Amino acid sequence: MKVCVIAQGKGGVGKTASAAHIAFYAHEAGQRVLVIDLDTGDLSKTLAEYQVGAIASSLFTEEGIGSLAAKQGDNSGYLAMLPADKLLANLVFVSLEKAQQNFKVNLARFADHFDLCVIDTAPGLGIAKAAALHVADAVLSPVEMEAYSIEGIKSTMVTVLNARKSNPKLSFLGILPSRVDTRSPRQKSNLDQVRQAHGALMAPLVIGLRSSIAEALAHGRPVWKLRKTSARAAGKEMRELGDYVLAKLGVNQ
Ligand SMILES: Nc1ncnc2c1ncn2[C@@H]1O[C@H](COP(=O)(O)OP(=O)(O)OP(=O)(O)O)[C@@H](O)[C@H]1O
Ligand SMILES: [Mg+2]
Repeated sequence: MKVCVIAQGKGGVGKTASAAHIAFYAHEAGQRVLVIDLDTGDLSKTLAEYQVGAIASSLFTEEGIGSLAAKQGDNSGYLAMLPADKLLANLVFVSLEKAQQNFKVNLARFADHFDLCVIDTAPGLGIAKAAALHVADAVLSPVEMEAYSIEGIKSTMVTVLNARKSNPKLSFLGILPSRVDTRSPRQKSNLDQVRQAHGALMAPLVIGLRSSIAEALAHGRPVWKLRKTSARAAGKEMRELGDYVLAKLGVNQ
């Protein structure tokens, strides 16, 4: 099981949209997908129909989670979602070492049952995110082409480099320009500047600002399943994202 974490210090940049679409894409490709919501529940709502009888905070306990009744998909794969729950807030009372250790041990129990684990995280720094980065194979960082988000790229890289000290296998899948308004000259110029400054760190993709993505998330469906012309471009971009992540992680398609 390959573990992919979606992380970015800034809120509202498209982390959950990316996590959901990577999970949908892998599921449709017949993979066995585990999704963990370590934020406040947006992804849990989008993937509500895939919730299994366990909650994300249990992954940080000594007891962990016994087994998961994953739903079988149309093909050989399945998707199981561990929803965010209120007890995640109690992690502030747990030591980082203990949280990391429990999360690692508990997640390892699912290693033979899933091909891909997608973990959505909250903005800012937190114990849950640190634990996720401690076990991850890869991290992807959606970034908006706005000043505050762009300034946050450096702190994202510091977070990744710190996580690598205890998890040397952690690979950086890149900065993902997200919610990009390609009709805005300012955003286009920001994107060019970010490419010049951080070229080597950029994922070779752009997710445009498209209302169909918000609509799809609200309906719990991938944007490529919306039957409207305006969703076509968004669907193509999100499929490219899924394809990129699976290829980078070596998850067979
Ligand atoms: N490419 C996009 N185009 C238009 N709207 C988008 C796009 N991606 C996400 N959205 C919408 O923008 C809002 C923020 O996106 P999302 O929830 O994915 O960000 P986030 O980084 O997970 O936020 P948070 O830090 O609050 O968890 C949501 O309402 C979502 O539906
Ligand atoms: Mg989110």
